[in-house]
Amino acid sequence: MLRLRLPTPALVTLLLLQVITMVVMFGWYRHGLPASTSSPAQGKVHVLLLSSWRSGSSFLGQVFSQHPSVFYLMEPAWHVWVTLRMPGARGLRMAVRDSLHQVLRCDLSVMDSYLPPQPNVSQLFMWSHSRALCSPPACPLTPRNTFSNETECKKRCDAQGLARAEEACRSYSHVVLKETRVFELESLYPLLRDPTLDLRIVHLVRDPRAVWRSRDQSANALARDNALVLEQGEAKGPEAQYRVMQEVCRSHVRMHETALLKPPDFLRGRYKMVRYEDVVRDPLGQIDAIYQFTGLEMTPRLQEWIYRITHGKGKGTKKEAFQITSRNAEDVSRAWRTTLPYEKVRRIQEICKGAMSLLGYRTVDSDKEQRQLDMDVLSPREPFQFSWLPSKTTKHSTKV
Ligand SMILES: *[C@@H]1O[C@H](CO)[C@@H](O)[C@H](O)[C@H]1NC(C)=O
Ligand SMILES: *[C@@H]1O[C@H](CO)[C@@H](O)[C@H](O)[C@H]1NC(C)=O
Repeated sequence: MLRLRLPTPALVTLLLLQVITMVVMFGWYRHGLPASTSSPAQGKVHVLLLSSWRSGSSFLGQVFSQHPSVFYLMEPAWHVWVTLRMPGARGLRMAVRDSLHQVLRCDLSVMDSYLPPQPNVSQLFMWSHSRALCSPPACPLTPRNTFSNETECKKRCDAQGLARAEEACRSYSHVVLKETRVFELESLYPLLRDPTLDLRIVHLVRDPRAVWRSRDQSANALARDNALVLEQGEAKGPEAQYRVMQEVCRSHVRMHETALLKPPDFLRGRYKMVRYEDVVRDPLGQIDAIYQFTGLEMTPRLQEWIYRITHGKGKGTKKEAFQITSRNAEDVSRAWRTTLPYEKVRRIQEICKGAMSLLGYRTVDSDKEQRQLDMDVLSPREPFQFSWLPSKTTKHSTKV
C-alpha cells in the first residue's frame, strides 16, 4: 500500500496556499461582474434606466440623481426624437442608441445634431432635474452631498456651452441615463460589448392599468411621442392610446425574455427588472437592491430622503407632467382601482395579457373585484421561481 508521507512544514505550506487561493477567489466572486475586475472602464459604472412613460421613472431617476456619486441625465433621446421625428421609433433606433453610447462616455458633442448652435446647458431636456448639473464643477450652487432644489438650480445654474457638463460627467464614478425611448435590448448590444463601458441595465415596469390612468392625465404631453411609437403622423383618440399601450406591453415582454430566457453572455448579470409597485411597497429595501446592483452605496441621508419622498401627503394631483412631489406613493399607485371604469380595465388587460402574466400583475374579473382593494393584484415575483407545490394548492392562493 502506498502511503504518502509529507513532512509537517510542507503540509502547513500547502494548507496556507489553499487558504490564500480561497481568499483571493472569494474576493473575485464578491466583486461579481467579471468585466469590472480588469476592464478599461476603470471602475466607472454606466447605468441605463429603461422604462416607459408614466411608470415612475422620474422618481427612480431622482433616486439616482440625488446620489453624490452619480452624474444623471434624463432622456437624451428626447432630442433625437423631436429633431429627426419621422419615420418613427424603429427608424430612429440607431440614432438613439448612438447618442446614448456617446453620452454614457461623457461626450456631449453628439448633441450637436440635436441642439441649436452654441447651446446652453438649459437646452438639455429637463436639465435642472439633474443634481450633478446643479453641483460643482457644473455649478457652484449645490454641494455634491446635499439634495438639489430644481427651482433654484433653474435660476442659477444655466451656462453657455456643454463643456462644464462634460467635465462634471467625467468627475463621477457613475453615469446614469434615464430613457423611455428604447423598446428592445438588441440595439444596445454594442454598448454591452464595449470594453470601455461597464453597463448595467435597470428595467422599470409598472402595472399597465396604473400606467393607463396616469397617461390619461397627461394625454396632451404624450401626443407627439405616441405618433412616433405607432409610426404614424397622427395618433389621436382612444384607439391610438390602446395601440400605444400594446406596444409598450410588447416591449416589456421582449426585453424581459431577451434578458432572462436566452441572454447572450455579455448581457448575463447586467440586467435587473424592477416593478414600480415593489418599490412603492418597500422603497428602502428595493432601492437598496438597485444601488447594490449598480455598485452605489446607501447612506442614512439618502434613506431619510427616500422615506420622506415616498410617504408625503396628497394624492399627487400634478399639474406638471414630469414633476415628482412628495406624496403617498402607495395611494397613487392604487388610484386606478377606484377611478378607471372597469370596461377600460378589461380592455387593457386583454391587450397586455402576456406582459401582465409574465410580470406578475393579476387581472380583475369584474367591477366589484376591481374596487375590492383588499384583493392584491400583485403576485410575488422572484427570479427563477421554483414551484414545488402541487398546482391545486397554489391555485387557491390568489389572495395574499
Ligand atoms: C426650492 O426653493 C424655492 C425657492 O426658490 C422654495 O420655494 C421651495 O420650497 C424649495 N423646494 C424645496 C423642495 O425645498
Ligand atoms: C445662456 O446662459 C448664459 C449664462 O447663464 C445666459 O446669460 C444666456 O442668457 C443664456 N442664453 C440663452 C439663450 O438662454
